[in-house]
Amino acid sequence: MELQNAKNMLAHALKNNYGIGAFNFVNIETCKSILESAEAKKSPVIIQCSTGAIKYAGVDTLVAIAKSYAKNMTVPVCLNLDHGKTFEDCKIAIDAGFTNVMIDASSLPYNENIELTKKVVEYAHKHNVTVEAEIGVLAGVEDEVSASEDDAKYTNPKEAYDFVKATGVDSLAIAIGTSHGTVKFKGEPKLRFDILQEVAKLLPDFPIVLHGASSIPQDIVKMAENFGAKLTGSVGIPEDMLRYACSLNVCKVNVDSDLRLSFTAGIRKSLVENPENVDMRKYNEVGMELIKQQVCHKMDNVFGSSNKA
Ligand code: G3H
Ligand code: 13P
Ligand code: ZN
Repeated sequence: MELQNAKNMLAHALKNNYGIGAFNFVNIETCKSILESAEAKKSPVIIQCSTGAIKYAGVDTLVAIAKSYAKNMTVPVCLNLDHGKTFEDCKIAIDAGFTNVMIDASSLPYNENIELTKKVVEYAHKHNVTVEAEIGVLAGVEDEVSASEDDAKYTNPKEAYDFVKATGVDSLAIAIGTSHGTVKFKGEPKLRFDILQEVAKLLPDFPIVLHGASSIPQDIVKMAENFGAKLTGSVGIPEDMLRYACSLNVCKVNVDSDLRLSFTAGIRKSLVENPENVDMRKYNEVGMELIKQQVCHKMDNVFGSSNKA
């Protein structure tokens, strides 16, 4: 199938109360593992590249990898730019063949976020590309800030409503207490579901995106540590919380760290257990197998997207 934009995929997820995994990739190994899992699970899938991934591998190379694997698939695949920061980031991705872009102007003042998002929406829609934006600053409750400063980082539901109406954006990432990386909480995991519920009430037919949604599986952390990794304090979003989010209006669930951890754990294990091996395909395959297990597990048991394509 051709890569498609996110419009129909997110609408279907919203209507049928499931989430679509949006998994980051940086190379053949990550892309192939994610797409083979989606095909096996008959699940729609979003694959995404950060600007860092584009710097690492090259925009045309990443698009070519995505297209060449998606071509023979039967499930819908969308290729998203993750955290584009400027109009130029988004234009480069759109011109190269991405089918959804995120403009993350969440660190700018609200009105500037609106202006930049509108400009990206105008260009993207002309090219049949959908757009995700963000308001609120993604941060974990681990930040030692006072309650009022803390509140200022979370998405304001009324602002979310106004932002969607003002920009014509296709999906919106909101801040409810998740954060990027492997250390998401210092104490008990806690998300502001009251904010998500309020946004869902104000925007009942609108797809919401959750960033920083890795669960940081402790068995994978242990495996990596057993083979030399140092990952002190790693803790992620409990799967029950993600299930609940997907039952509300969260339709796109961003996962990068869980796949990085899985790939790293597999490669470490393979290299330690097979010190004579110098064929990278062999240790890459062990990492890829662990990525596939993670992606399949999430589609089956957390996001509920299996058999929805
Ligand atoms: O949202 C951030 C993603 O995990 C991408 O991370 O910029 O290191 O590729 P990166
Ligand atoms: P994690 O670090 O939780 O995997 O989040 C990834 C993400 O939000 C990419 O945009
Ligand atoms: Zn993110």
